[in-house]
Amino acid sequence: MIKEIKPANSLRGEIIPPPDKSISQRAAIFSLLHDGISEVKNFSKAEDPNSTLSCVQQMGAQVKRSNESLLITGTGRRGLRKPEKDLDCGNSGTAMRLLSGVLVGSCVPARLVGDESLSGRTMTRIINPLEKMGAHILARNSAYAPLFVTCNDGLKPMKYELPIPSAQLKSCILLAGLFGEDVTQVIEILPSRDHTERLLELDSVVTHGRKIISASRADEIPNQSYTIPGDFSSAAFWLVAGAIHNDAEIMLSGTGLNPSRNALLGVLEEMGADITIENERQEGAEPVGDIVVKSSDLRAIKLDPNIIPNCIDELPVIAIAMLFAEGISEISGAGELRHKETDRIMATGEILRAVGADFEEKEDGFIIHGNPDFTFDSAEFKSYHDHRIAMAASILSLKGTNPSKVIDAESAAVSYPEFWQHLKAASGN
Ligand code: S3P
Repeated sequence: MIKEIKPANSLRGEIIPPPDKSISQRAAIFSLLHDGISEVKNFSKAEDPNSTLSCVQQMGAQVKRSNESLLITGTGRRGLRKPEKDLDCGNSGTAMRLLSGVLVGSCVPARLVGDESLSGRTMTRIINPLEKMGAHILARNSAYAPLFVTCNDGLKPMKYELPIPSAQLKSCILLAGLFGEDVTQVIEILPSRDHTERLLELDSVVTHGRKIISASRADEIPNQSYTIPGDFSSAAFWLVAGAIHNDAEIMLSGTGLNPSRNALLGVLEEMGADITIENERQEGAEPVGDIVVKSSDLRAIKLDPNIIPNCIDELPVIAIAMLFAEGISEISGAGELRHKETDRIMATGEILRAVGADFEEKEDGFIIHGNPDFTFDSAEFKSYHDHRIAMAASILSLKGTNPSKVIDAESAAVSYPEFWQHLKAASGN
């Protein structure tokens, strides 16, 4: 689908971001592992969480939908079923990596498949440690899906220092560890999103700046009865849209504010954005609030590489903010972007170059020469079937003089099916 996006005269109103994708996927998997019923409110209707939900159903979870909630009856760790068909993870790296951990821990054999994008993303980061824990994983070219996951005898627990700051890898190992008689420990040097530890109430300690998280069979798996907060990563598009637009005031109600996810707030504040947070509260294990963003005068920023894991999914839209900020901005230490749904350093560069921006690509990031008065007429943006690239390009389109086009815009539904409706409501287009 090609979406035409008109420039916006103003951006105003209240947006309720869609339910958090990462938390929804975890709610589905952890509800399967809980022996009993979980009532999950505000479960995401996006494609990735739907893929995860159908996988957990194939593994034995029973799912009933009532008005605003999902009732998920889990099998517990002992009752998992061998799926009769392939587990189709669609576009979701989180589904493939977290479910692999569950399959290895439980020693349930299965084949995991994904769409073209997911089948092109390396799985060696999980294959190597899972094989050390006793798994046999057959992968295309030893690295790519389809993955055929089997094991022989019992799980070998381990102490594992994460070689990359990845919440998917961390969660994969911890989920396998939950089946072991002895404790598995994951050591994290740079903090990545911590939903798994929070929602499973796993023990963790911080020593010498490293976080050590433990999991074993002795850990109870709590029921997952809570309300999923609004997705900060979806709210991010509006935070940037509001900050760069000359006539904007947007309220993002009920947005998740988990500190391991919300580094964009600090980034935008350091750039001079007018952002306030109201009504901070707790929804289950996660902090939530209403964020208000207004038109702002932005200045350039050099991002601290240590915060990259806490704004990893927001980097393409941060690049848009950098384009409208006074001065030279820089991101480095973000090589992981090359392993996302598409190579997001390349794709972000394509979007910015399409409007004539001064974008310098680096192996692990980029440099952008920004200007608050930057203007362009219109552009045709390639999204590379990547939801976050499609939405970042749409936010940029709002600043053109004439309508722009976003190619393969349907990919937004991977995380944010309501995006187009919200765009229309906020911009009046
Ligand atoms: C996710 C973790 C991040 C993120 C992805 C979702 C998760 O990936 O980019 O969109 O749900 O754990 P990595 O852990 O590979 O960095």
